[in-house]
Amino acid sequence: MAKIVLRRVTKSFGQKVAVDDLNLEVEDGEFVIVVGPSGCGKTTTLRMIAGFETPNMGTLHIGGTLMNHVPPKDRNLAMVFQNYALFPHMSVERNLSFGLRVRHASKKEINTQVHEIAEMLGIRPLLDRKPAQLSGGERQRVALGRALLRKPQAFLLDEPLSNLDAALRTQMRFELKRIHAQFPVTTVYVTHDQVEAMTMADRIVLMNDGELQQVAPPETLYAEPVNVFAAGFIGSPKINLVSARIDHSSGGSALRCLATAIPLTTEIADQLRSAQSETVTIGIRPEDILPQSPMDDTPGRAVVSGTVEVIEPLGAETHIAVRVGDDILTCRTPPRSGLEMGSTINLSFDIAQATIFDGTSGLRLC
Ligand SMILES: Nc1ncnc2c1ncn2[C@@H]1O[C@H](COP(=O)(O)OP(=O)(O)OP(=O)(O)O)[C@@H](O)[C@H]1O
Ligand SMILES: [Mg+2]
Repeated sequence: MAKIVLRRVTKSFGQKVAVDDLNLEVEDGEFVIVVGPSGCGKTTTLRMIAGFETPNMGTLHIGGTLMNHVPPKDRNLAMVFQNYALFPHMSVERNLSFGLRVRHASKKEINTQVHEIAEMLGIRPLLDRKPAQLSGGERQRVALGRALLRKPQAFLLDEPLSNLDAALRTQMRFELKRIHAQFPVTTVYVTHDQVEAMTMADRIVLMNDGELQQVAPPETLYAEPVNVFAAGFIGSPKINLVSARIDHSSGGSALRCLATAIPLTTEIADQLRSAQSETVTIGIRPEDILPQSPMDDTPGRAVVSGTVEVIEPLGAETHIAVRVGDDILTCRTPPRSGLEMGSTINLSFDIAQATIFDGTSGLRLC
């Protein structure tokens, strides 16, 4: 097991800066998930840790040792990459047992461990097949099994579940989390699936366009995103982002948006005074917007009126999209609410629950 430390790491391919001045510490035994949109530098980061790419600048330490020029085979890391390279001439069983055989484990130990892992991954009937005779999802599970049996000082996993169907992916998420709880090996896991990131990570590393945006536990990233990008990337349905103008004039401060003026407490008004521009972006999570019942006159809640444009029943809950002036607000409602498309609805939210970002820099103000 080992701590992984990247300091000021930059990697360019020609003019393209794939990873820009990255600082990251992954604690010993920690499960860290790197997320971000396609092309943001996730795989490049992982390949530098693995040793397949050398940083142009910066240092990489694993277990306290400088690794910049140590070849991949001497790093004692187990990897599952997007293209899960298996040994094509070996059966599934021999692929799985590869690491154990290299370590000269006994036949009995190899047999037990291979069968255990194959059972867990649901690939036991495939042990005699060659990789070419497997589906993409089956190959991915074999690659995962082979990595898990290596007993490395760290796991590097690049989209290891991307080829699996939804049900299997959920099951594998659960299994990986369980295995990690049992054997807490330092893990860096790359995905663009925010559900994987939210459900499995001790901490999420969010990247965009080669740059680190935020490193935080999932709950913190969700509740306290540092900027508009982080707020928009995490959360499904997406956070509502509404542009507003700050009005510090008429007898107290307010935010003008959604065809209304939302009065602000002095606390929020003071926090907004550091804004660089007169506009801000308000981020409101769909669960924080409620259809207003006639009985609800809770003070301090902003109330806006709009037209229901889309109704998406999902069984346990229904998502509705409501047009309010030029904006569309998505909110979660209980199922069978009796709403109809085209009907007028009042929505209420508490501005104190919202996240407010600077309209120019996109950085969080409060
Ligand atoms: N060998 C290479 N040569 C040139 N450009 C590269 C190379 N590898 C990656 N890049 C570029 O660097 C950027 C980051 O690529 P990377 O593979 O790290 O993205 P990613 O976040 O893993 O994306 P995805 O989610 O699509 O896998 C991209 O713009 C990519 O085109
Ligand atoms: Mg990638």
